[in-house]
Amino acid sequence: MKVLIVGSGGREHVITMKVAQSSKVDKIYCAPGNAGIGEIAELVPIKAMEFEKLADFAEEKKIDLTVVGMDDPLVGGIVDVFKARGLRVFGPEKKAAILEGSKAFSKDLMKKYHIPTAAYETFTDKEAAIEYLKTKASFPIVLKASGLALGKGVLICKDLPEALDGAEEIMGVRKFGDAGSQMVIEEFMTGHEVSVLTFCDGRTYREMSSSQDYKRAGDNDTGLNTGGMGNISPSPFYTKEVREYCEKNIFQPTVDAMRAEGREFKGVIFFGLMLTKDGPKVLEYNCRFGDPEAQVILPRMENDIIDVFEACIDGTLDQVELKFREEATVCVMVASGGYPVEYEKGKEISGLENFKGKQGIWCFHSGTAVRDGKIVTNGGRVLGITANGKDLQEARDRAYEAVSWVSFEKEFYRHDIAQREIMGV
Ligand code: AMP
Ligand code: GLY
Repeated sequence: MKVLIVGSGGREHVITMKVAQSSKVDKIYCAPGNAGIGEIAELVPIKAMEFEKLADFAEEKKIDLTVVGMDDPLVGGIVDVFKARGLRVFGPEKKAAILEGSKAFSKDLMKKYHIPTAAYETFTDKEAAIEYLKTKASFPIVLKASGLALGKGVLICKDLPEALDGAEEIMGVRKFGDAGSQMVIEEFMTGHEVSVLTFCDGRTYREMSSSQDYKRAGDNDTGLNTGGMGNISPSPFYTKEVREYCEKNIFQPTVDAMRAEGREFKGVIFFGLMLTKDGPKVLEYNCRFGDPEAQVILPRMENDIIDVFEACIDGTLDQVELKFREEATVCVMVASGGYPVEYEKGKEISGLENFKGKQGIWCFHSGTAVRDGKIVTNGGRVLGITANGKDLQEARDRAYEAVSWVSFEKEFYRHDIAQREIMGV
């Protein structure tokens, strides 16, 4: 088979690695990719949002399967463009990707189908939102731009003045662009956060493994929210009891609700959950693998990933049993100084050769490029250093050891990834 992967981050790097392990695959392209992906796939200089150009390429090269890793093209309808041209593609159609593309949609879906989530109200009018905040809200409260905002359109406001500023940012000055034309105001929840990734064929879902994200830039959850500074899998808080509850009350009901709405979901549903004292509740849905959730989950998957992608497309996932190695995995993101605000690019990265031939230690590239034959930084999140181990402690030790192998000017990373799970707090 010839496979095309669409995206350019660490998530697409690990997807490409799994695709390369398939016995069915003999050629992989990635558009646009990065320096790490370029070592296992041929890079194609077409951007992820150039749907027609990507489809032209897939036709010309007789690509058998295209896999879309990123949210923007999925929410924008890349799958519909490919399908209309008779091209085989893994990922949800636009009408299903709305599960991530509109928080107003997903909240209404959960309400209609009694899927547990935080209480909320939706607003398209700023004045109405302000009136609600002044008269009905209790604090802290959470404001969310309804559309896609690189994981940054969520504001937790401790009091009314902060909430009024937040409403102005989202709906007034449109800090997150059109994503703020609609705003969700929701109840603040507390508890452990757990993510669960699932494959879905429209009817049946199969759970991958649980994971936990470290979203803030600084140690001990200080600093700004980021795309994810590290991740661990599995989550010790995702117990058998929690899992059974989620399967019955969240996962299958979501798949069924989408189908009942005529929005059959084929692809990956990423469930962001908060384990509250009243039980697990949905924080958010994503319509694709997480980044860096994929980096801690896919390396442990024993199945041929192509078989799983095809079962999702063909609606035969009920015949697939997913197998994951009973290990733990830890990913530490090495980022450019200043991320997530302002940072420089083009810094030469040294030490990458240390990963060659290592078992169970991976250097997934998030933001890298080749310049004058050298690998340089090309983004805020640069490398997702990932390691496995018999438990979280061993995986953590191995991941941090490997972090010390690489360096570039002004690099930074969190020092506490996996620590709170190891301590059980
Ligand atoms: P989201 O993009 O909706 O997952 O939100 C980003 C982050 O904001 C989540 O991972 C949580 O840490 C936090 N968050 C979102 N919604 C809530 C909520 N209702 N209560 C508390 N924290 C929240
Ligand atoms: N790491 C969070 C996400 O991919 O949305």
